[in-house]
Amino acid sequence: MLTEQDLKDKGIKATIAQHPLVQHKLTLMRRREQSSSAFRALLREISWLLCYEVTRDLPLEYLPIETPVEAMDAPVLKGRKLAFISILRAGNGMLDGMLDVIPSARVGHVGLYRDPETLQAVEYYYKVPSHMENRLIVVVDPMLATANSAIAAVQRLKEGGAKDMRFVCLISAPEGIKAFNEAHPDVPVVTAAVDTRLNDHGYIVPGLGDAGDRIFGTK
Ligand code: PRP
Ligand code: URA
Repeated sequence: MLTEQDLKDKGIKATIAQHPLVQHKLTLMRRREQSSSAFRALLREISWLLCYEVTRDLPLEYLPIETPVEAMDAPVLKGRKLAFISILRAGNGMLDGMLDVIPSARVGHVGLYRDPETLQAVEYYYKVPSHMENRLIVVVDPMLATANSAIAAVQRLKEGGAKDMRFVCLISAPEGIKAFNEAHPDVPVVTAAVDTRLNDHGYIVPGLGDAGDRIFGTK
């Protein structure tokens, strides 16, 4: 696995969520023998922590409140409504955890699958909240491999008006981060791990296999 310093040396940029609980839970998820139900539960739990990481810099404002003891000016989130955008179908595995942390967020879906031959993303569904231009948009998908899916989803969202986006994933490949940085330099990437490389089929090595299949028990 690569560190943020390794990424810097390669001239690419992503924030790695290094919290020990994230790393421990990710190891449990990677294991071949893990059941789909445990995989889903772990992904939900890691998504709580990734949600904290990706919203770390949200602005606050101070409002007057009264505690049982005294009045005070207390911090609350300021400003724009947030929307989570799930890249179907594996993105849905992260959505519940994100919504546990920010239940008031709006939700959108971009349906994409990777053509197994060309590895290009093919869109089959698009439904997002209104007023995308005024929202902070957090795009979620567990895997950033070639980045074709993430690049296409973010491009589609920009065409739909989105201006302020962040991309959150579980495992990424250095090749994918590089391609994503080049296509969308304005969209920060948060990931739990950066693995070694892609194999000839565009799978992340060592990775965890096909995220959608592992979440939903298909294949
Ligand atoms: C997986 C994953 C990403 C994509 C990553 O989805 O959830 O969307 O592959 O690969 P890329 O970075 O090379 O584009 P997949 O296409 O397998 O569809 P699924 O979620 O419906 O299984
Ligand atoms: N999609 C996945 O689900 N896993 C990979 O390793 C690459 C793309």
